[in-house]
Amino acid sequence: MRLAIVGTGYVGLVTGVCLSEVGHDVTCVDLNAEKVQKLKAGVCPIFEPDLEGMMRRNQSHERLHFTTDLKAALVEAKVVFIAVGTPEDEDGSADLSHVKTVARSIGESIDHDIIVVVKSTVPVGTCDMVESVLEEVLKKRDVAFRITVASNPEFLKEGAAVDDFIKPDRIIVGLNDLSVSDTFQDIYNPFILDDPGRLLIMDRRSSELSKYGANAMLATRISFMNELAILCEKVGANVDKVRIAMGADPRIGRKFLHAGPGYGGSCFPKDVAALIRSGQTQGVELSVLKGVFSANNRQKEYVFEKIERHFGNLKGKIVAIWGLTFKPGTDDVRETPSRVIVKRLLKAGASVRCHDPEGIKNFRMEFGEAAGLSYSEQAYEILAGADALVLVTEWSEYRRPNWDKIGGVMAHKTVFDLRNQYDAHDLISRGFHYECIGRPDSKRYTR
Ligand SMILES: NC(=O)c1ccc[n+]([C@@H]2O[C@H](COP(=O)([O-])OP(=O)(O)OC[C@H]3O[C@@H](n4cnc5c(N)ncnc54)[C@H](O)[C@@H]3O)[C@@H](O)[C@H]2O)c1
Repeated sequence: MRLAIVGTGYVGLVTGVCLSEVGHDVTCVDLNAEKVQKLKAGVCPIFEPDLEGMMRRNQSHERLHFTTDLKAALVEAKVVFIAVGTPEDEDGSADLSHVKTVARSIGESIDHDIIVVVKSTVPVGTCDMVESVLEEVLKKRDVAFRITVASNPEFLKEGAAVDDFIKPDRIIVGLNDLSVSDTFQDIYNPFILDDPGRLLIMDRRSSELSKYGANAMLATRISFMNELAILCEKVGANVDKVRIAMGADPRIGRKFLHAGPGYGGSCFPKDVAALIRSGQTQGVELSVLKGVFSANNRQKEYVFEKIERHFGNLKGKIVAIWGLTFKPGTDDVRETPSRVIVKRLLKAGASVRCHDPEGIKNFRMEFGEAAGLSYSEQAYEILAGADALVLVTEWSEYRRPNWDKIGGVMAHKTVFDLRNQYDAHDLISRGFHYECIGRPDSKRYTR
């Protein structure tokens, strides 16, 4: 089937590549000409496991194309996906300007019947808005085509995006007009051959809200565990033991119960804010979610305060940061906890040296240069003479560090493990001052 995808970011590119992988003829459109140039040359602009190889393979089979020309991409397309960003607006709501612009451009370019699919994460009612924009533009052009607007939120996780798309837990499609549901079966069947029941067709509004509901629930679990971890520190419990005990209950499950420096990324922060805002505009107070939002902001401060409390005064201290991205497996640094921690450390007068396997370029671009801030491609290099190591992102290469080597080069053997990755007993016995989140550490060690 001939498909067009507008917006070639984390979602649009993975969607385009994976749909071409199963045989669809896909053209991806982006207004960023430099990005499109790179893509045409077979260079993937983002780091995402398995993506570049799959992209090149499908380009060479001429099933995957890139362009800045929306009109050309729409030629003979049966379906067009909108996968542009929906960033947080000043009042917390989702900024739908990119979605609106694309809807208008589709209306101005289209010359046949088409299904317009909103894949971006959008508040309830956005498909209605897209429909009105399209109707208005077609009316102005004095043309009539059958345009069906569908909701199809994306649930992939950065760092495992290709795998998630190819093996989805579920595919949600929201339709007001069920007559086009066969088209979605044609598009998605190759991914759900073993269980076609994973394609869930529902009304558009429920589909739109499903995405926010899922992200808000995941964010809630994280904030809940982070607050519980702080309580664990006060009462002498171990949050990892509590987590395992809780997760053994199948009603709760084991995933998304790890304490840490707070959630980040391009989705949870903005989606939680947007859902709260949606509630407000409807006169519905989402008080649980408001708590989630503020607990998450507090957590980022809390982990900084741990570091500050240990040193008393951070002026002149050298702090090494392992991990800049909001999670491992991606180069995405949007709303990453490292941003807050680095900012607070610099403000307190510390020198900050950063390492990340994939995120340095983006962090540098987003954060900008600052006095006292440096980067290295070598994880161990930044530890020479450092007063503290702070593990922020749990990349696998940080999992089993050479503590003898590290202890030998640091000015002070101090580790803040914000992902509870390391063994407290081991580090303390090696002479490190070790602090983690909600578990016994150097301040209160009980095995
Ligand atoms: N990143 C994720 O993990 C993820 C997961 C699920 C859902 N989502 C949602 O998917 C949407 C896209 O997210 P993303 O992370 O891929 O965003 P992104 O910022 O990585 O990519 C958006 C792309 O759209 C392009 N664009 C903007 N306006 C355009 C226009 N008028 N015409 C053509 N291209 C245009 C931009 O140049 C950019 O390349 C958001 O709503 C997001 O919430 C993201």
